[in-house]
Amino acid sequence: MKLELRDYIKIRDFIYKHSGLHFEEKKIYFVKKRLSIRMKALAIESPKEYLWLLKYGDPDGKELQELINLLTTNETYFFREFDQLAVFAENCLQEVCASKEEKGNKTLRIWSAGCSTGEEPYTISIILLEMLDRYHSWDIEILATDIDTKVLKKAREGIYSRRAVKDVPEEYLEKYFIKNDDNYRVKSIVKRPVRFRHLNLIDEKKMRLIKGIDFLFCRNVLIYFDETTRISVVSNFYDSLNVGGYIFLGHSESMSRISTAFALRRKNGFIVYQKVED
Ligand SMILES: C[S@@+](CC[C@H](N)C(=O)[O-])C[C@H]1O[C@@H](n2cnc3c(N)ncnc32)[C@H](O)[C@@H]1O
Repeated sequence: MKLELRDYIKIRDFIYKHSGLHFEEKKIYFVKKRLSIRMKALAIESPKEYLWLLKYGDPDGKELQELINLLTTNETYFFREFDQLAVFAENCLQEVCASKEEKGNKTLRIWSAGCSTGEEPYTISIILLEMLDRYHSWDIEILATDIDTKVLKKAREGIYSRRAVKDVPEEYLEKYFIKNDDNYRVKSIVKRPVRFRHLNLIDEKKMRLIKGIDFLFCRNVLIYFDETTRISVVSNFYDSLNVGGYIFLGHSESMSRISTAFALRRKNGFIVYQKVED
Protein backbone atom coordinates (compact mmCIF):
# COMPACT_ATOMS: atom_id res chain seq x y z
CA MET A 1 0.00 0.00 0.00
CA LYS A 2 1.26 3.47 -0.86
CA LEU A 3 0.53 6.19 1.72
CA GLU A 4 1.26 9.78 0.67
CA LEU A 5 2.17 12.16 3.48
CA ARG A 6 -0.86 14.37 2.77
CA ASP A 7 -3.23 11.39 3.02
CA TYR A 8 -1.48 10.26 6.20
CA ILE A 9 -2.04 13.69 7.72
CA LYS A 10 -5.74 13.62 6.85
CA ILE A 11 -6.17 10.16 8.37
CA ARG A 12 -4.18 10.85 11.52
CA ASP A 13 -6.09 14.14 12.02
CA PHE A 14 -9.34 12.19 11.78
CA ILE A 15 -8.07 9.68 14.36
CA TYR A 16 -6.98 12.53 16.64
CA LYS A 17 -10.36 14.22 16.43
CA HIS A 18 -12.14 11.03 17.47
CA SER A 19 -9.75 9.49 20.01
CA GLY A 20 -7.27 12.14 21.14
CA LEU A 21 -4.49 9.79 20.00
CA HIS A 22 -1.82 11.99 18.55
CA PHE A 23 0.55 10.63 15.90
CA GLU A 24 3.47 12.74 14.75
CA GLU A 25 4.70 12.65 11.15
CA LYS A 26 7.46 10.23 12.06
CA LYS A 27 4.81 7.70 13.18
CA ILE A 28 3.70 7.26 9.57
CA TYR A 29 5.04 3.68 9.36
CA PHE A 30 3.39 2.63 12.62
CA VAL A 31 0.03 3.96 11.43
CA LYS A 32 0.49 2.67 7.88
CA LYS A 33 1.01 -0.89 9.11
CA ARG A 34 -2.23 -0.82 11.08
CA LEU A 35 -4.16 0.89 8.29
CA SER A 36 -3.06 -1.77 5.86
CA ILE A 37 -4.45 -4.51 8.15
CA ARG A 38 -7.89 -2.88 8.05
CA MET A 39 -7.72 -2.09 4.33
CA LYS A 40 -6.79 -5.70 3.56
CA ALA A 41 -9.69 -6.97 5.67
CA LEU A 42 -12.06 -4.73 3.72
CA ALA A 43 -10.39 -5.25 0.33
CA ILE A 44 -9.83 -1.50 0.00
CA GLU A 45 -6.81 -0.47 -2.02
CA SER A 46 -6.36 3.25 -1.53
CA PRO A 47 -5.98 5.20 1.73
CA LYS A 48 -8.23 7.90 0.23
CA GLU A 49 -11.02 5.37 -0.16
CA TYR A 50 -10.47 4.13 3.38
CA LEU A 51 -10.70 7.66 4.76
CA TRP A 52 -13.88 8.18 2.76
CA LEU A 53 -15.30 5.03 4.38
CA LEU A 54 -14.36 6.26 7.87
CA LYS A 55 -15.96 9.63 7.23
CA TYR A 56 -19.12 8.74 5.35
CA GLY A 57 -19.60 4.97 5.26
CA ASP A 58 -19.28 4.16 8.95
CA PRO A 59 -22.31 5.72 10.66
CA ASP A 60 -22.09 3.58 13.82
CA GLY A 61 -18.31 3.99 14.11
CA LYS A 62 -17.63 0.24 13.91
CA GLU A 63 -14.73 0.55 11.49
CA LEU A 64 -13.23 3.46 13.43
CA GLN A 65 -13.36 1.28 16.55
CA GLU A 66 -11.53 -1.54 14.71
CA LEU A 67 -8.84 0.91 13.66
CA ILE A 68 -8.53 2.43 17.16
CA ASN A 69 -8.16 -1.07 18.63
CA LEU A 70 -5.11 -1.52 16.39
CA LEU A 71 -3.62 1.88 17.19
CA THR A 72 -3.68 1.84 20.98
CA THR A 73 -0.65 0.79 23.01
CA ASN A 74 -1.85 -1.54 25.74
CA GLU A 75 1.34 -2.40 27.62
CA THR A 76 0.52 -3.05 31.29
CA TYR A 77 1.14 -5.53 34.11
CA PHE A 78 0.12 -6.21 37.69
CA PHE A 79 1.65 -3.99 40.38
CA ARG A 80 3.19 -1.66 37.79
CA GLU A 81 5.03 1.22 39.50
CA PHE A 82 5.08 -0.61 42.78
CA ASP A 83 6.48 2.27 44.89
CA GLN A 84 3.71 4.60 43.83
CA LEU A 85 1.13 1.94 44.69
CA ALA A 86 2.75 1.62 48.12
CA VAL A 87 2.17 5.35 48.68
CA PHE A 88 -1.45 4.87 47.66
CA ALA A 89 -1.89 1.84 49.94
CA GLU A 90 -0.04 3.07 53.01
CA ASN A 91 -0.74 6.81 52.94
CA CYS A 92 -3.48 8.14 50.70
CA LEU A 93 -5.90 5.24 51.14
CA GLN A 94 -5.62 5.31 54.91
CA GLU A 95 -6.08 9.08 55.00
CA VAL A 96 -9.14 9.18 52.74
CA CYS A 97 -10.80 6.20 54.43
CA ALA A 98 -10.27 7.65 57.92
CA SER A 99 -11.76 10.96 56.83
CA LYS A 100 -14.76 9.27 55.18
CA GLU A 101 -15.36 6.99 58.15
CA GLU A 102 -15.37 9.99 60.44
CA LYS A 103 -18.26 11.37 58.40
CA GLY A 104 -20.03 8.01 58.43
CA ASN A 105 -19.40 7.58 54.71
CA LYS A 106 -18.40 4.02 53.85
CA THR A 107 -18.34 4.28 50.06
CA LEU A 108 -15.13 4.09 48.11
CA ARG A 109 -15.06 4.98 44.42
CA ILE A 110 -11.94 4.38 42.37
CA TRP A 111 -11.43 4.94 38.66
CA SER A 112 -8.81 3.29 36.50
CA ALA A 113 -8.96 5.42 33.34
CA GLY A 114 -7.19 3.67 30.46
CA CYS A 115 -7.27 0.31 32.24
CA SER A 116 -6.13 -1.72 29.21
CA THR A 117 -6.42 -5.49 29.85
CA GLY A 118 -7.36 -5.05 33.51
CA GLU A 119 -4.12 -5.54 35.42
CA GLU A 120 -4.32 -2.07 37.00
CA PRO A 121 -7.90 -2.23 38.38
CA TYR A 122 -7.36 -5.81 39.62
CA THR A 123 -4.13 -4.70 41.32
CA ILE A 124 -6.08 -1.94 43.07
CA SER A 125 -8.72 -4.46 44.07
CA ILE A 126 -6.04 -6.70 45.65
CA ILE A 127 -4.56 -3.73 47.51
CA LEU A 128 -7.98 -2.87 48.95
CA LEU A 129 -8.51 -6.47 50.07
CA GLU A 130 -5.17 -6.38 51.82
CA MET A 131 -5.22 -2.88 53.28
CA LEU A 132 -8.78 -2.02 54.27
CA ASP A 133 -9.85 -2.64 57.84
CA ARG A 134 -13.24 -4.35 57.87
CA TYR A 135 -13.18 -4.66 54.07
CA HIS A 136 -16.76 -5.98 53.91
CA SER A 137 -18.14 -2.94 55.71
CA TRP A 138 -17.15 -0.77 52.71
CA ASP A 139 -19.24 -0.20 49.59
CA ILE A 140 -16.51 -0.36 46.95
CA GLU A 141 -16.60 0.25 43.23
CA ILE A 142 -13.62 0.27 40.91
CA LEU A 143 -14.64 1.73 37.58
CA ALA A 144 -12.26 0.56 34.86
CA THR A 145 -12.54 2.21 31.45
CA ASP A 146 -10.79 2.08 28.11
CA ILE A 147 -11.39 3.21 24.53
CA ASP A 148 -10.25 -0.17 23.17
CA THR A 149 -13.03 -2.78 23.06
CA LYS A 150 -10.59 -5.65 22.47
CA VAL A 151 -8.67 -5.08 25.72
CA LEU A 152 -11.90 -4.73 27.70
CA LYS A 153 -12.94 -8.20 26.56
CA LYS A 154 -9.68 -9.65 27.83
CA ALA A 155 -9.95 -7.64 31.05
CA ARG A 156 -13.39 -9.10 31.80
CA GLU A 157 -12.03 -12.62 31.30
CA GLY A 158 -9.28 -11.97 33.86
CA ILE A 159 -6.86 -14.63 32.63
CA TYR A 160 -3.19 -13.69 32.45
CA SER A 161 0.20 -14.98 31.38
CA ARG A 162 3.18 -15.45 33.67
CA ARG A 163 4.64 -12.21 32.27
CA ALA A 164 1.64 -10.13 33.42
CA VAL A 165 1.92 -11.39 37.00
CA LYS A 166 5.72 -11.27 37.27
CA ASP A 167 5.65 -8.45 39.86
CA VAL A 168 2.85 -9.89 41.98
CA PRO A 169 4.23 -10.82 45.40
CA GLU A 170 4.27 -14.63 45.71
CA GLU A 171 1.88 -14.54 48.67
CA TYR A 172 -0.75 -12.61 46.66
CA LEU A 173 -0.29 -14.84 43.66
CA GLU A 174 -1.33 -17.80 45.76
CA LYS A 175 -4.10 -15.97 47.53
CA TYR A 176 -5.79 -14.14 44.64
CA PHE A 177 -5.11 -16.21 41.50
CA ILE A 178 -5.93 -19.71 40.33
CA LYS A 179 -3.05 -21.22 38.38
CA ASN A 180 -4.03 -23.30 35.40
CA ASP A 181 -1.19 -24.62 33.20
CA ASP A 182 0.65 -21.42 32.28
CA ASN A 183 -2.28 -19.13 33.03
CA TYR A 184 -3.31 -17.22 36.10
CA ARG A 185 -7.02 -16.58 36.61
CA VAL A 186 -8.06 -13.73 38.90
CA LYS A 187 -10.32 -14.96 41.71
CA SER A 188 -13.89 -13.69 41.91
CA ILE A 189 -13.26 -11.84 45.16
CA VAL A 190 -10.81 -9.63 43.23
CA LYS A 191 -13.18 -9.24 40.28
CA ARG A 192 -16.26 -8.43 42.34
CA PRO A 193 -15.86 -4.63 42.81
CA VAL A 194 -14.49 -3.98 39.30
CA ARG A 195 -16.83 -2.67 36.56
CA PHE A 196 -15.38 -2.51 33.06
CA ARG A 197 -16.86 0.11 30.72
CA HIS A 198 -16.08 1.39 27.26
CA LEU A 199 -15.21 5.08 27.51
CA ASN A 200 -13.36 7.50 25.31
CA LEU A 201 -11.65 10.04 27.58
CA ILE A 202 -12.23 12.80 25.06
CA ASP A 203 -15.99 12.24 25.17
CA GLU A 204 -16.79 15.22 27.39
CA LYS A 205 -20.48 14.43 27.68
CA LYS A 206 -19.83 10.98 29.15
CA MET A 207 -16.89 12.18 31.23
CA ARG A 208 -19.12 14.75 32.93
CA LEU A 209 -21.40 11.97 34.18
CA ILE A 210 -18.63 10.44 36.30
CA LYS A 211 -18.66 11.99 39.76
CA GLY A 212 -17.75 11.17 43.34
CA ILE A 213 -14.36 9.57 42.66
CA ASP A 214 -11.97 9.19 45.62
CA PHE A 215 -8.95 7.89 43.69
CA LEU A 216 -8.27 8.26 40.02
CA PHE A 217 -5.52 6.29 38.29
CA CYS A 218 -4.67 7.51 34.82
CA ARG A 219 -1.23 6.08 34.33
CA ASN A 220 0.63 5.85 31.04
CA VAL A 221 -2.32 7.16 29.03
CA LEU A 222 -1.77 10.92 28.77
CA ILE A 223 1.56 10.30 26.99
CA TYR A 224 -0.42 9.37 23.88
CA PHE A 225 -2.22 12.73 23.83
CA ASP A 226 -1.02 16.21 22.91
CA GLU A 227 -1.04 19.06 25.42
CA THR A 228 -4.47 20.42 24.42
CA THR A 229 -6.11 17.03 24.96
CA ARG A 230 -4.24 16.40 28.23
CA ILE A 231 -5.42 19.74 29.62
CA SER A 232 -9.04 19.10 28.73
CA VAL A 233 -9.05 15.47 29.97
CA VAL A 234 -7.43 16.38 33.29
CA SER A 235 -9.86 19.25 33.78
CA ASN A 236 -12.71 16.74 33.50
CA PHE A 237 -10.88 14.41 35.90
CA TYR A 238 -10.74 17.26 38.39
CA ASP A 239 -14.52 17.62 38.23
CA SER A 240 -14.99 13.86 38.70
CA LEU A 241 -12.97 13.77 41.91
CA ASN A 242 -14.27 14.38 45.40
CA VAL A 243 -12.59 17.08 47.46
CA GLY A 244 -9.79 15.23 49.27
CA GLY A 245 -9.48 12.75 46.38
CA TYR A 246 -6.20 11.87 44.67
CA ILE A 247 -5.08 11.43 41.09
CA PHE A 248 -2.15 9.19 40.13
CA LEU A 249 -0.33 9.61 36.83
CA GLY A 250 2.42 7.46 35.32
CA HIS A 251 5.98 8.15 36.44
CA SER A 252 6.90 9.85 33.17
CA GLU A 253 3.81 12.07 33.29
CA SER A 254 3.91 15.31 35.22
CA MET A 255 1.00 17.58 36.06
CA SER A 256 3.17 20.70 35.75
CA ARG A 257 2.18 21.68 32.19
CA ILE A 258 -1.34 20.31 32.45
CA SER A 259 -3.06 21.74 35.52
CA THR A 260 -2.36 23.92 38.53
CA ALA A 261 -5.67 23.04 40.19
CA PHE A 262 -4.31 20.14 42.25
CA ALA A 263 -2.35 20.50 45.50
CA LEU A 264 1.04 18.82 45.42
CA ARG A 265 1.61 16.39 48.27
CA ARG A 266 4.95 14.79 49.04
CA LYS A 267 4.59 11.33 50.55
CA ASN A 268 7.52 8.96 51.10
CA GLY A 269 9.55 10.90 48.53
CA PHE A 270 6.73 10.71 45.97
CA ILE A 271 4.69 13.56 44.58
CA VAL A 272 0.97 12.92 44.51
CA TYR A 273 -1.81 15.26 43.45
CA GLN A 274 -4.85 15.97 45.58
CA LYS A 275 -8.02 17.92 44.95
CA VAL A 276 -8.46 20.25 47.90
CA GLU A 277 -11.30 22.49 46.79
CA ASP A 278 -14.23 22.49 44.37
C1 LIG B 1 -0.27 1.82 28.05
S1 LIG B 1 -1.93 1.48 28.50
C2 LIG B 1 -1.88 1.87 30.23
C3 LIG B 1 -2.51 0.81 31.09
C4 LIG B 1 -2.44 1.04 32.59
N1 LIG B 1 -3.07 2.29 32.97
C5 LIG B 1 -1.02 0.99 33.10
O1 LIG B 1 -0.45 2.04 33.43
O2 LIG B 1 -0.45 -0.08 33.13
C6 LIG B 1 -2.80 2.87 27.81
C7 LIG B 1 -4.28 2.61 27.62
O3 LIG B 1 -4.94 3.86 27.36
C8 LIG B 1 -6.01 3.61 26.47
N2 LIG B 1 -6.43 4.85 25.78
C9 LIG B 1 -5.77 5.54 24.83
N3 LIG B 1 -6.51 6.58 24.41
C10 LIG B 1 -7.67 6.55 25.11
C11 LIG B 1 -8.84 7.36 25.12
N4 LIG B 1 -8.99 8.40 24.30
N5 LIG B 1 -9.83 7.03 25.97
C12 LIG B 1 -9.71 5.97 26.81
N6 LIG B 1 -8.63 5.16 26.84
C13 LIG B 1 -7.61 5.45 26.00
C14 LIG B 1 -5.42 2.57 25.50
O4 LIG B 1 -6.43 1.85 24.83
C15 LIG B 1 -4.57 1.71 26.44
O5 LIG B 1 -5.25 0.54 26.83
